[in-house]
Amino acid sequence: DKGNHRHFMEKEIYEQPEVMSHALSHYVDLADHVVKAEAMAIDFKPLRGLAISACGTAFLAGLIGKYWFERYARLPVEIDVASEFRYREMPLSPDQAALFISQSGETADTLASLRYCKDAGLKIGAIVNARESTIAREADAVFPILAGPEIGVASTKAFTCQLAVLASLAIAAGKARGVINDEEEKELVRHLAELPRIMSHVVNLIQPQMESLSRDLSKFKDVLYLGRGTSYPLALEGALKLKEISYIHAEGYAAGELKHGPIALIDENMPVIVIAPYDRFFEKTVSNMQEVAARGGRIIFVTDAKGAAASKLETMATIVLPDVAEIIAPMVFSLPIQLLAYHTAVFMGTDVDQPRNLAKSVTVE
Ligand code: M6R
Repeated sequence: DKGNHRHFMEKEIYEQPEVMSHALSHYVDLADHVVKAEAMAIDFKPLRGLAISACGTAFLAGLIGKYWFERYARLPVEIDVASEFRYREMPLSPDQAALFISQSGETADTLASLRYCKDAGLKIGAIVNARESTIAREADAVFPILAGPEIGVASTKAFTCQLAVLASLAIAAGKARGVINDEEEKELVRHLAELPRIMSHVVNLIQPQMESLSRDLSKFKDVLYLGRGTSYPLALEGALKLKEISYIHAEGYAAGELKHGPIALIDENMPVIVIAPYDRFFEKTVSNMQEVAARGGRIIFVTDAKGAAASKLETMATIVLPDVAEIIAPMVFSLPIQLLAYHTAVFMGTDVDQPRNLAKSVTVE
């Protein structure tokens, strides 16, 4: 049932504040601001490393997770798309654990990667939406994302709930490994606890702008997304979302890679969507944005209040989100990315929930 929404995808975008609080409250205490035992079902303390594997959007959630595990838990992460991971013949040792992320819990390549790690004697964790799935059954520890059924082929609420779980696990790992102390834990969990309220505010705040901007975006054949730090996987996710449902060719790049190739494409016919909260990478990303502007590129700047105040560059559009803590920025910045792709697809008249050639669950290699 789509309720009063036109598509399941729209409904699932709007459900995020609510499902986010289900996901979070399973792993963190939203009143006392501490991580719960559910986030410690893997013993992170003795680990020498973590391997993460997944496909599509779930892989991009894992890529953001890598930044968090390394930063908050000093835990080195090896990550790859499951279709490569399963054949890489990488050396694994039992002092590593492995995490598999899958909305459906049935993705063939992710399952094969899981079995590969299991054979190598690694402890297996599964971050899944479908708790009765094969991937959940074969894991040692199951971390449900509690997003509720996701019907739209384009993943939205599963992505942000996967991020909520990964952030909680990274904090739990940091605590177990003595990297973050009690105060830091409280501070980080307090930020996570603000997510449902902030996401609900943001989704309503930006909706009209995303809808009108989608009319402009639908006129282009190619779009480039740039980001740095955790905004880099978000750039990849933005490009994936747009191409999946609107069929507009889109690419995501690490902002620092611009000069190493994609800058050759910059002209007035390829808008560049720059994702840049006012974080420790902001100035660097802005200098990449200047390179785009200097070559006549059109910029759609997705930033926050501080970022908007700090940049004087002329843009095609600036999307201003509230200033939020660094650990929750990826979830909050997912919203404009999802809404922009959604409205562009609606405007172009594609089959948003069932895009051509795609299946919700990919159970063959
Ligand atoms: O069920 P899974 O999470 O394992 O699926 C992985 C991908 O097939 C999935 O995320 C796909 O990329 C989505 N269509 C993205 O919107």
